[in-house]
Amino acid sequence: MFLVDDIRKDFPVFSDLKDGKELVYLDTAASAQKPKCVIDKICEVYTHSYANVHRGTYALADEITKAYEDARQIIADFINAKTSSEIVFTRNATESINLVAASWGVENLKKGDTVLVSEAEHHANLVPWQIVAQKTGAELKIFKIDDNGAFNEEKFDQALTPDVKLVAVTAMSNVLGSVFPIKKITTRAHQIGAKVLIDACQAVVHQKMDVSDIDCDFLAFSGHKLYGPTGIGVLYAKSDILQTMPPYQTGGDMVDTVTYLKTTYAPAPARFEAGTPAAVQAIGLGEAVKYLLQIGFENIKSHEDNLISYFYQKAQKTQGLKIIGTAQDKGGVFAFDFNGIHPQDLAFVLAHENIAIRIGHHCAEPLVKRMGYNSLARASFGLYTSKNDIDAFFKALDKAKRFF
Ligand code: ALA
Repeated sequence: MFLVDDIRKDFPVFSDLKDGKELVYLDTAASAQKPKCVIDKICEVYTHSYANVHRGTYALADEITKAYEDARQIIADFINAKTSSEIVFTRNATESINLVAASWGVENLKKGDTVLVSEAEHHANLVPWQIVAQKTGAELKIFKIDDNGAFNEEKFDQALTPDVKLVAVTAMSNVLGSVFPIKKITTRAHQIGAKVLIDACQAVVHQKMDVSDIDCDFLAFSGHKLYGPTGIGVLYAKSDILQTMPPYQTGGDMVDTVTYLKTTYAPAPARFEAGTPAAVQAIGLGEAVKYLLQIGFENIKSHEDNLISYFYQKAQKTQGLKIIGTAQDKGGVFAFDFNGIHPQDLAFVLAHENIAIRIGHHCAEPLVKRMGYNSLARASFGLYTSKNDIDAFFKALDKAKRFF
């Protein structure tokens, strides 16, 4: 049974008031608040179990190395990877995608090849492919989405020509909330021999990801959106691909042997984790995943679906509110225009009520422009979002309307 009031008690930030007002946090798509169990875990490791990983031969070093590798296993189980060696810890999803671009992309793409991405990509799944295209002579092609932000199967199929060697696509847009059918996309791409990278940054928070079922080649997400710490991200890659990829960064812990003349590299995942990793953050992320699994993704999804219906109901009664992104398959992310009020002004009025939203191009400037705007306001939901939060949001919109 999912009781949002109980969930909110797990998040200490909600007991802080600002000028007597409770926090209405509608910016989870940017970064999620942290449950106490994650905060406590980080504190516990730094207090009682801290040392470097993979390097020491004393009890503390053993303890943290084990906890770090256990976290890798938790992540592998969470997304149903075949083995924990398919999990590389990175800084965030951005770094995960840059790793694939700089390593697999530069090694495997050449003139005549194409990387196919959608119009709905975050900069992190667009700019790395622009760089790879410049470096290798490959082409970057963009497939169109519908005007309501939905995935368009026909347009995707048309764009999936035999020269496509990689499809890099979001599982859920951070601006429009649209959920893409990643399993279908993967199956189609594999039929023409292309590899598939999934940007699961938003989606992993809303639905259970199963890489074995999707059969994608790469999948990337960030820890901080998954109620875990900042500074930790995940790259999943199929073993046979990962083991053949050249290093991305070089230095300590990613080598086999080093001489002044030549270096041989460690097998993956160590090959891609140069230097001291964010071990405490990885352990914190493992704790966040355990917390989410305890709540259960079915409960998380049905809570979110209820909030989405409630938001739509209220929106229908709000004159001048235009939701940008109304795909049928949609997560709890609402970009909007409100009576043409500049998003900055709107955010200012909401901030006065202790309501947090995000404004701007949301690190997806071409997408926001494609939807006809230079800047948009966005409200996004998390586990702890309540109907009261949505009521407060609509009340504040009303205030903003009167103000402007
Ligand atoms: N990608 C994050 C967002 O959508 C930061 O806000």
